[in-house]
Amino acid sequence: MSKLTIPVILGSTRDGRYGDKPARWITEQLNANEHISAELLDLRDWPLPFFDQKTPPGAVKDGNYGNALANKWSEKIGAADGFVIVTPEYNHGYPAVLKNALDWLYREWKRKPVGFVAWGQVYGGRVVEQLRLVACELHMVPVRNAVHVTADVWAATKASTSLEGFAPLAKAATHLIDDLVWWGQALKTARQAS
Ligand SMILES: Cc1cc2nc3c(=O)[nH]c(=O)nc-3n(C[C@H](O)[C@H](O)[C@H](O)COP(=O)(O)O)c2cc1C
Repeated sequence: MSKLTIPVILGSTRDGRYGDKPARWITEQLNANEHISAELLDLRDWPLPFFDQKTPPGAVKDGNYGNALANKWSEKIGAADGFVIVTPEYNHGYPAVLKNALDWLYREWKRKPVGFVAWGQVYGGRVVEQLRLVACELHMVPVRNAVHVTADVWAATKASTSLEGFAPLAKAATHLIDDLVWWGQALKTARQAS
């Protein structure tokens, strides 16, 4: 089977953010797997307006979402076989910029696995649980294993330009990636057959 295309969606865009570090690290981990081709999709590079369309994305039939950037987002997400969402926890939930990027589309997410990398006071546990609910509504398959950046790894990587401090999370990344490969291949086969 050809490689699975698994983009990494970075859900924090604020000035001085931490999120680009775990995002770059997990992209490297994904690309080290022989079954995966990963690229980082930084939402700073996808400045979608707040969703403002009359037609709900689930009702769009012709692939035209009424916004040029959203149509490019549709092409990018539609070409993927699964996703890793890298996200902070904002007020016990997901960042608005991330939810907005999810809301703009519908069928492009469908029947594809999604895994999570998160951090925060409780290692991002709450935001991941909330995103799993959102993912199900978009017909994604949220995988069981996630990477939760622990307090010691967060502290070690915050001030460093090196990604070496993520090493203690390598095993968690392997479990996440194994899930993505299994579900990614199974769902790709099923999508092609249907
Ligand atoms: C608006 C906002 C709300 C936050 N709420 C939470 C929260 O509910 N739980 C938590 O663990 N951390 C919270 N934090 C702290 C973040 O975990 C921390 O700032 C982290 O670095 C955010 O990731 P980022 O730097 O990539 O944006 C919040 C931060 C911001 C900016």
